[in-house]
Amino acid sequence: MPATIVVGTQWGDEGKGKVIDWLAEKTDLVARFGGGDNAGHTVTVAGERYALHLVPSGILYPGKLCLMGGGMVINPASLLAEMDHLAARGVDVFPERLKLSVKAHLILPYHIALDGAQEAGRGRQALGTTKRGIGPAYSDKSARVGLRAGAMHDPEGFSEKVYQATEDKNAVLTGVYGQSALDAKAVAAQFHDYARRLAPYLADVSLLVSQALAAGQRLLCVGAQGTLLDLDHGTYPFVTSSAPTVGGALLGLGFGPHYVDQVVGLVKAYTTRVGAGPFVTELLDETGDRLRGTGAEPWDEFGTTTGRPRRCGWLDAVILRYAARVNGLTHAALTKLDILGSLETIKIAVAYDYQGQRLEHLPLDAEVLAACQPIYEELPGWSEDISGARAFGELPRAARRYVERVEELLGVPILLIGVGSGREQTIAR
Ligand code: GDP
Ligand code: IMO
Ligand code: MG
Repeated sequence: MPATIVVGTQWGDEGKGKVIDWLAEKTDLVARFGGGDNAGHTVTVAGERYALHLVPSGILYPGKLCLMGGGMVINPASLLAEMDHLAARGVDVFPERLKLSVKAHLILPYHIALDGAQEAGRGRQALGTTKRGIGPAYSDKSARVGLRAGAMHDPEGFSEKVYQATEDKNAVLTGVYGQSALDAKAVAAQFHDYARRLAPYLADVSLLVSQALAAGQRLLCVGAQGTLLDLDHGTYPFVTSSAPTVGGALLGLGFGPHYVDQVVGLVKAYTTRVGAGPFVTELLDETGDRLRGTGAEPWDEFGTTTGRPRRCGWLDAVILRYAARVNGLTHAALTKLDILGSLETIKIAVAYDYQGQRLEHLPLDAEVLAACQPIYEELPGWSEDISGARAFGELPRAARRYVERVEELLGVPILLIGVGSGREQTIAR
């Protein structure tokens, strides 16, 4: 069976970019199924660091076909900037290799303005969005007033639609939010240009995927964000506006479940979260600072997209069990095990205490979750540097024990272990 789906099990930034790059070697097509440039995926190859937001990280392997699915929302300015940046570094981003679904929705400048205005309006209840216009773009899609990438086939007609849509939204921006109006003529001219450049990349991604699968090719479906940021299954309302969970792959790419043989959940060896919302195992002490790092190294916990410091805490097995359930995980990959080195003891939350009651399952109400306390299990740490380990047997006993305990709590086998940000710093089991 030829399709693997990769999803984040936590609040994003689990190291999906690196693992996808690693898995891409043995696949024919790499397809991103949802989200937009709220995502930030860092990949390090031969000491060179690449920060990707929209283009799937399989692009760094020559010859792989990379697809951006209909479940995505695309800011054409960001996409073109990313493509130009990759091309300048010698990465092949020709239309033969990179395809954009005609069904993907577009992010326009008014979506970004609305995201900012809505966040400002929420005051202390702000969600901490990436302010990339993600929520407003998906809202327009649901309201059936969005612009789809396919409209760029006709740059003239497209630019007229952009003009009209910008004028319509200007009424909301000025009338409801007291913001200044956007220059609709200038926006339309700019988008005319984007359409001319992006038209050669447009494709029926569902058709391409289905034909490739029928021909026996291998497909890697890559999600952005993580399970707890899922619009339906995450910690609503502190979520993103798309479906980063397993169903989002079928929905966002347009193929059937009988092709899927593997669902791999990405698990960071501890937990991080960017933006607001409940986080039961969050550490506000020096251990949290220690996990975050200083920002001096690319693997430190500062956002790839916004540069915000990530909130850090211990691993949470309640979340992992939940992610295993809602995604039907068959396997997992454990990343950033090296970061836990030199801690005397390491904690894992195995259940929650809610007003004296022991909870084994993730509560679905954000207010209840916010009132939960972690019930920890403690494991011994290790002092050895493990970044050079390339086989499970080369890890210190305590590190092996940690991996085996995580596997037990998750209930699925861990296929890959990350011991550094480099492509080769991976242990395959
Ligand atoms: P993504 O959004 O899930 O793709 O993750 P990000 O790229 O936003 O954040 C993960 C960060 O950790 C990146 O800077 C990666 O280079 C880095 N990284 C990934 N795996 C490992 C690992 O096993 N060890 C270390 N030290 N860093 C890693
Ligand atoms: P990757 O793919 C971490 C978070 C934002 C905010 C919430 C809503 O790199 O793992 P949005 O702009 O989507 O409306 O913001 O979702 N968020 C992410 N956090 N990693 C991501 O992507 C994220 N994408 C969105 O910080 O809390
Ligand atoms: Mg990220």
